[in-house]
Amino acid sequence: MKTPPAFRYQVLAERFAATLKAGTLKAGDALPSVRQLSRQEKVSPSTVIEAYGRLEAMGLIAAKPKSGFYVLSQSRSKLQEPLVSAPKASPIAVDTGDRISQMLSPDRMASLVPLGAAVPAIELLPTLGLQRSAQQALRLGRHSLHTYDLPPGSLELRRQIARRSLVWGGSLSPQDIVITSGCLEALNLCLRAVCKSGDVVAIESPTYFAILQAMENLGIQALEIPTHPRTGIELGALKAAVARHKVKACLFTPNFNNPLGACMPDATKRELVEWLAKKGIPLIEDDVHGDLHFGPERPRPAQAWDKAGWVMHCSSFSKSLAPGARVGWVSPGRYLDAVVRLKLMNTLATSSIPQAMIAGYLDSGAHDRHLRRLRSALSLQVARMLEAVERHFPAGTRVTRPTGGFNLWVELPKGSDSLTLSDLAAKQGISIAPGPLFSAQGRFKNCIRLSCGNPWSSRLEAAVATLGRLASRLPG
Ligand SMILES: Cc1ncc(COP(=O)(O)O)c(C=O)c1O
Repeated sequence: MKTPPAFRYQVLAERFAATLKAGTLKAGDALPSVRQLSRQEKVSPSTVIEAYGRLEAMGLIAAKPKSGFYVLSQSRSKLQEPLVSAPKASPIAVDTGDRISQMLSPDRMASLVPLGAAVPAIELLPTLGLQRSAQQALRLGRHSLHTYDLPPGSLELRRQIARRSLVWGGSLSPQDIVITSGCLEALNLCLRAVCKSGDVVAIESPTYFAILQAMENLGIQALEIPTHPRTGIELGALKAAVARHKVKACLFTPNFNNPLGACMPDATKRELVEWLAKKGIPLIEDDVHGDLHFGPERPRPAQAWDKAGWVMHCSSFSKSLAPGARVGWVSPGRYLDAVVRLKLMNTLATSSIPQAMIAGYLDSGAHDRHLRRLRSALSLQVARMLEAVERHFPAGTRVTRPTGGFNLWVELPKGSDSLTLSDLAAKQGISIAPGPLFSAQGRFKNCIRLSCGNPWSSRLEAAVATLGRLASRLPG
């Protein structure tokens, strides 16, 4: 279901996008100034700014400070991008089966070329700095670190997280934050704080499979919303779905959704947050990839526009520092007390030593430098994977152009079965994540997610070549 654009800025953005794609404006050309275009189109300057913001998020243009907007060069990719998804507009009970646990089994993960599970390679993470910080924490906190660090968790870590919210223009205080065991526990606590079994939660289509597992575990029904591979949730479609169904909450990943890598433009985030607040519907925001942007600016989380506490912002250090530390957090807005209570009921406390290790590491001042290096490594790895897919996959394949994170979503020619491909690939020593894992409706049969968490190597090139060959031979 393609949603017609409902707002003037969307109409304007789509018109410009078509002009840019047609090559009418070339890379480096300046776009009309905001004032000029607003006069010409008889729209307000803020409409033009929102339209340009959307084009920026689509990777078509960039702003130069004090100079205006310019056309970016587009990769000369032969492969098209996937289209906006079109799930059925009705809620469904979630049943993920055992595919996910098979894919994540330790034996399988250790033995296969790792294009399946989305974790950054260990050599990209600051293991030495973390080790030093852990040793220091153990020396200084010989007694305190061996007891329960009851919710909301380590004050020092909450201070560091609050300080980092300044990067995206937030003004969190340590009192707003609850430490959790990874982002997944944060998401689970939020779901439990606002829903009960049988309730309906709106999600992206496709969405991260562990979100589906959390919903399955709690008996929550999934309402999949059409999602654009670059700009995320289609707001018009969400509004139509909410008019038809009693939606208890939304659970979205506005910054670099997994698996699409879609990043919602600021204007859409703001509109989403304001509209949900009017409706009294909480937004559970998964921002685990927000720090992994390839462009110069960290995209702001939706919570940046939240005035009334309806956004529950969840994240973790799993993608940037140490997945095994299992340290995440939630800033749950108006649901703070409920989340603290549920955290106590769920696991009593998050492990003290990893909290102290990460707090000490953040305090050392090394994190920003590390993030800069990690981001440039990941953007290069995604680019290399994209080029390899273009070299080896059959004609008719579509692929995303993420502007952050480290996943590529590949849509094989219609009729290809990604579950068969996944089984064939495993026999060749390669793991991939087949598309149906990312949908409660079992959609995306002809899609796969490729993790780009590992530095490029001839082994990866050979694995992508093998996948391409296998994909070309699949019955269509
Ligand atoms: C979108 C998204 N949310 C949450 C998580 C899980 O985060 P954590 O390991 O901190 O629980 C992941 C991990 O892949 C993810 O991709």
